[in-house]
Amino acid sequence: MELILDRVTKQYKNKLAVDRVSLSLKKGVYGLLGANGAGKTTLMRMMCGVLKPDSGEILYDGMKVEEEAYRDILGYLPQEFGYYPDFSAMDFLMYLASLKGIPKKQAREKSLELLELTDLSHVAKKKIKTFSGGMKQRLGIAQSLLNNPKVLALDEPTAGLDPKERVRFRNLISRLGNERIVLLSTHIVSDVEYIADVILVMKSGAMIHQGSLKEIIQAIDGKVWECTVDSKTAAELTARYDALNVREEQNGTFLRLVCGQKPAETAVSVEASLEDLYLYYFSDADQGSGEQPYE
Ligand SMILES: Nc1ncnc2c1ncn2[C@@H]1O[C@H](COP(=O)(O)OP(=O)(O)OP(=O)(O)O)[C@@H](O)[C@H]1O
Ligand SMILES: [Mg+2]
Repeated sequence: MELILDRVTKQYKNKLAVDRVSLSLKKGVYGLLGANGAGKTTLMRMMCGVLKPDSGEILYDGMKVEEEAYRDILGYLPQEFGYYPDFSAMDFLMYLASLKGIPKKQAREKSLELLELTDLSHVAKKKIKTFSGGMKQRLGIAQSLLNNPKVLALDEPTAGLDPKERVRFRNLISRLGNERIVLLSTHIVSDVEYIADVILVMKSGAMIHQGSLKEIIQAIDGKVWECTVDSKTAAELTARYDALNVREEQNGTFLRLVCGQKPAETAVSVEASLEDLYLYYFSDADQGSGEQPYE
């Protein structure tokens, strides 16, 4: 079970959305992290065979993802998912199952099982237009699993989930990752921090980091500092270094910074988190500084 991307590129007019991305995905959970416009959706659509790359190739065990047969092993939750407001949750799943060519009896059993899995059994007969954002999102996840896919691509699956649903979702994804390739995109750092076996960091169309949480964080390891200083020093430091957190306190300004050496006499080195890395790379919205941390 392996999904291989070889120098996959996509350009929209003069916007290079995905720039020569090469990856090898095996069984497990992959968290695709990036700011708005980084190219996550474009990359995912190409991995799902809905969008053709301008150049490069995507193969699943040697099979091109554009091939019809790939549909049978793919589950996909698009970022903008079209729900039918007047369908009930059960009817919606049965309808999509019929489009996927799943026999009726099997579709019924699978739909009921998935409603149970996504905690929607109690609203199976309710119309989707009465659902909350989180309930719709869970239904979207349910439909992506109808054909028991080997490759599961979820584009921002946790958008609209409350903290409790988020935890349930993480547990579900971890379980699903035991027997398939799961790729999920998000800009919520904690979602991937907990469940991704491999974190993929995308910026301006390029894959700038990939590895385990530990490997990814190494980029700024030993370079995250905390100190409490007077307001003048705080202003100087935040102008010079990337500030991850600034908080006014009774005895001065508390700072969390990325910096190659000790930024102030009282500064203490602290353990870097994935959020630090994310803030560092995406410090100014879409662009981020992207440079190596100051030496
Ligand atoms: N159909 C399109 N036509 C032109 N430009 C597009 C199109 N789709 C995406 N883009 C551009 O390509 C870039 C990547 O977009 P994409 O939707 O893949 O990013 P994303 O990482 O999914 O962002 P978000 O987090 O907001 O969902 C953006 O600059 C976007 O404006
Ligand atoms: Mg997107």
